[in-house]
Amino acid sequence: RLNLGVMASGNGSNFEALVKAIQNSQLDAYISILVVNNPNCEASLRAKRLGVPCVIHDHREFSSREELDKALVKTFTNHAVEGVVMAGWMRIVTPILIAAFPNRLINIHPSLLPSFRGLDAVGQALKARVAISGCSVHLVTPQVDDGPVLAQAAVPVLSSDDHQSLSKRIQRMEHQLLPLSVALAGQNWRNAAQN
Ligand code: GAR
Repeated sequence: RLNLGVMASGNGSNFEALVKAIQNSQLDAYISILVVNNPNCEASLRAKRLGVPCVIHDHREFSSREELDKALVKTFTNHAVEGVVMAGWMRIVTPILIAAFPNRLINIHPSLLPSFRGLDAVGQALKARVAISGCSVHLVTPQVDDGPVLAQAAVPVLSSDDHQSLSKRIQRMEHQLLPLSVALAGQNWRNAAQN
């Protein structure tokens, strides 16, 4: 089974989707640690309910992004994780974290990249009046939301959509796409380790 670390900042529904996929054997893995940066966020409550170990690295307690990332690397290294999933991590990460997990750091983003990088991708899609949006799972590189895409899924944008309804439709798709993508990435990591 694949040993995963997960990072989350807020609601944690994608984290829970990973746990559910593991429970129903869609994903042959275990999450040895969830790291959150916001104390008492919904993600940490979900971890408690689901029995997944969780630590808080509150970004406000670090002097820089690099210092926060050093703490993340230490935590994940201590747990000997094979890969790390940013499941709604709302902080910019630095080369410190990226270099510690080359091609093994995965992010999910609520748009069809390369469209609508950065903050509020759903709002950006609505403003651009696109007819189709979706979600992307990609490897993290130093440029924000710019790394190689592992998988994408599209959803329609309806003329009746507001931010909430479109977010919900994209998130439901994320909950399917993320576990599948992590399973795929995990196979790649194992193959790479054999060669
Ligand atoms: C997800 O929609 C994810 O794609 C997005 O935050 C949401 C977290 O939801 N991530 C980003 O925007 C990263 N730039 P969740 O906490 O319920 O999983």
